[in-house]
Amino acid sequence: MEDSLEKKGLLYEGKAKRLFATKDELLLIQEFKDDLVIDHGKRKTKFKGKGNINCEFSAFMFEYLENYHIPTHFQKKFKKNSMIVKRVEMIPIEVAVRNFAAGAMLRRYNLEDGQKLEYPVIEHLLKDDSLSDPLVNDYHCFAFGLATPDEMRAINRLASKVNAILRSFFQRRGLVLIDLKMEFGKRESQIMLADEISPDVMRIRDAKSGKKFGGDRFRYEMGGVAESYEELAERTLK
Ligand SMILES: Nc1ncnc2c1ncn2[C@@H]1O[C@H](COP(=O)(O)OP(=O)(O)OP(=O)(O)O)[C@@H](O)[C@H]1O
Ligand SMILES: [Mg+2]
Repeated sequence: MEDSLEKKGLLYEGKAKRLFATKDELLLIQEFKDDLVIDHGKRKTKFKGKGNINCEFSAFMFEYLENYHIPTHFQKKFKKNSMIVKRVEMIPIEVAVRNFAAGAMLRRYNLEDGQKLEYPVIEHLLKDDSLSDPLVNDYHCFAFGLATPDEMRAINRLASKVNAILRSFFQRRGLVLIDLKMEFGKRESQIMLADEISPDVMRIRDAKSGKKFGGDRFRYEMGGVAESYEELAERTLK
């Protein structure tokens, strides 16, 4: 039945993906673009094949996580660069889990790049590029009506579970999961992992050499951005 799904109208075009309606109002098509955008839309590049890698990567991760009983919006792969997902009501916060200090955290707390955190840190950021996604805590989320205490508990439990699963997954491949950013949605009061789980939303380094992959290579102008996405896919998706 789903094979006969067709793209209907464009519902949303974001920085890295497009969402299309289908004739089934419970399902959407999520298409991954070749654009790589960082710093809340301020810096942008693109390379051919990036959308495909992120789509394959996300599909693989969602299926992997489902095996560990993480509810996700993933339904199945669709045509190139696209997947069918369940339509959910998005909770407009980004949930970051950090295992090692990196990025914005370094300046904020004066930490060293790659410094081990004794316990994973969960951060919540309000999804608003015009404010550069400010940090919020659970109480802001309740006060702004973004999520209830029960929903925040479910989100935080799922976020730390996903982090633990993926950290071991990458460790077995000689890679270190520095941090990861997730978005959650709800459908019929069930909280599920939505959006994407791709190199765009994870910081990964080689365990031995410390080599950086993905968006960080663009952020720090290190070159080899496309190659690093390919290498990560090569070392991961099998
Ligand atoms: N299953 C889903 N149902 C409805 N919306 C979804 C679903 N999965 C992801 N989304 C939303 O679709 C959009 C994906 O586009 P993209 O990630 O490119 O946006 P973005 O430019 O990062 O902007 P945003 O700040 O809105 O995430 C996001 O807004 C995300 O929250
Ligand atoms: Mg996004």
